[in-house]
Amino acid sequence: MLNALADGRFHSGQALAETLGISRTAIWKQIHKLAETGVTVQSVPGRGYRLSEALELLSQEAIIAGLQPEVLGRLNGFQILLETDSTNDHLKARLHDPAAAGTVCLAEYQRLGRGRRGRVWQSPFGKNLYLSLLWRFPCGPASLQGLSLAVGIALIGALTQTGLTGAGIKWPNDILLEGSKLAGILIDMTGEAAGPTMAVIGIGINIAMPAATGDRIDQPWTELQQHIQGKVSRNQLAADVLNHVVPTLGRYEQWGLSAFLEQWQQLDLARNRMVRLLTPQGEVQGRAQGIDESGALIVNVDGLERRFSSGEISLRLNT
Ligand code: BTN
Repeated sequence: MLNALADGRFHSGQALAETLGISRTAIWKQIHKLAETGVTVQSVPGRGYRLSEALELLSQEAIIAGLQPEVLGRLNGFQILLETDSTNDHLKARLHDPAAAGTVCLAEYQRLGRGRRGRVWQSPFGKNLYLSLLWRFPCGPASLQGLSLAVGIALIGALTQTGLTGAGIKWPNDILLEGSKLAGILIDMTGEAAGPTMAVIGIGINIAMPAATGDRIDQPWTELQQHIQGKVSRNQLAADVLNHVVPTLGRYEQWGLSAFLEQWQQLDLARNRMVRLLTPQGEVQGRAQGIDESGALIVNVDGLERRFSSGEISLRLNT
């Protein structure tokens, strides 16, 4: 049904019923189901149905066509879903299956998209990018504390390739543009202290957020489409993300976060700024002084250097 409607043109109920080999009543029911996921379908008597705007649906073929051969060689299958609770949760079901490492999952719509610290990640249908990657690391989870920072750097690389300039990272892994959230990273992992570790690396990028959904986001946000010329291709962006993230995972595995410290300095939005940290033990204020080799944030608090690991901490940049 969506493939038939994706062009944004009118299709009569009769024509849809014939193409899809189902009754007109079944077409009507499907249209209602689409509306529940946030897809606006216009219904005009005498003309039929059309989407309020054309949609570029996710396509495994189109993503693969944009991948560098060595990146494709490191992947182990795609799962492209119309809807799911959360692409991270979908892959988490396979966290204990080493044979599934390298699987990529993308969805058009997440019913229960998750952000860090128990937040909701708004995931309207067909608009943004929701991508998760299942990866196996030989090391234990402790060595992966800085992984999300390295993935953030890789994401900025992918976004820059679309023509975006000026994005930075608010520790540990919020991708911000002009102070507003553009993309986020959520990593779930499980492993033995001595390794190996299986990790689900989840990435969400706001591309073209419908206003009604945007109203539900509880922090300043922005969307990629507003900041670049030409239409963003979600399939090309998914390929660009994988082209940057997959080699980053290899580099991280080999060198750890130390291979990324220089790039971090360029992208660190908190560096030398006064910050507030909301920790489970209360609020701390000080001047941010970069990160250490484990990815902990270094903050000068009343002349004393203190280090904070990401976990449940939220960082606010003072204006
Ligand atoms: C954050 O900044 O709070 C992290 C947001 C991570 C969102 C992505 S979308 C794909 C994957 N599935 C989820 O449920 N969450 C991550």
